[in-house]
Amino acid sequence: PKVTYVDHTGQETQIDVPVGENVMHGAVYNGIEGIAGECGGALSCATCHCYVDDDWTAKVGGPSSEAEEELLENASAEVKPSSRLSCQIEMTDDLDGLVIHLPESQY
Ligand code: FES
Repeated sequence: PKVTYVDHTGQETQIDVPVGENVMHGAVYNGIEGIAGECGGALSCATCHCYVDDDWTAKVGGPSSEAEEELLENASAEVKPSSRLSCQIEMTDDLDGLVIHLPESQY
């Protein structure tokens, strides 16, 4: 399934992210700037903060755990209703075409 990462300038990069892999790794493994993922997906850094595109928020849903919700509050960029930690979004076939917007900075 494909994920389109849109950086803060509007530049789009499409990456094939395998089912079962998370959206943070899809970015980090492919050199997408805008997602740091410092803790490697261990839910302890919030540097994988992203915004789910409006067309996808219903499908992706909100934070998957209380821990994600709490950690999101520490994200450095503005937190919006569409905010998620990208390491907590696991790819499925249903998410093919997913669009993710990246904050300007994770720090
Ligand atoms: Fe650290 Fe997602 S990579 S919380």
